[in-house]
Amino acid sequence: MKVQNETMSLKEIIKIPDPVLRTKCDPVETITPELKKLMDDMLETMYDAPGIGLAAPQINIPIRLIVMDAANKEEEQEPDPIIMINPVILKSSDEVSTYEEGCLSIPEFFAEVERPANVLVSYRDKDGNPQEKNCEGLLGTVVQHEIDHLNGVLFIDYLSKLRRDRVIKKFAKAKKAVSI
Ligand code: NI
Repeated sequence: MKVQNETMSLKEIIKIPDPVLRTKCDPVETITPELKKLMDDMLETMYDAPGIGLAAPQINIPIRLIVMDAANKEEEQEPDPIIMINPVILKSSDEVSTYEEGCLSIPEFFAEVERPANVLVSYRDKDGNPQEKNCEGLLGTVVQHEIDHLNGVLFIDYLSKLRRDRVIKKFAKAKKAVSI
């Protein structure tokens, strides 16, 4: 079936404390036209936000699919969209790097997180072909942050309990305020 003039659409990004963000996501079994459309929608949603990474659970779909564009941060750079299906970290460097991280599901909160500086990731690409990519620099951090999302892990989990609880409480309060 061929769909003409198919337009991409923006998805709603869910925020903490939505329980879907704490779900261990299911692997993708088959790559369907609907899934390819979802990948395009995720990229469009990420660029629109704007963000440099988005995981499927953040749009309320708990499957192992992430999109990223670490080049998007530098405006002069050409876009470099990366789609990873069922990503797995094969190797992590002993060397670490620290970036100030944020998350589209935890708006307006940023904190420094230390992670391995380089990771080797295996995944399936948009067409289902097996790939391996060495991710370093900003992309190294982004890919680890996004893979964490597939396991229900958020970057605030790396902070002290005191700081994490403060953020969670703030968002729980905000949710209550709009739901009355
Ligand atoms: Ni995030």
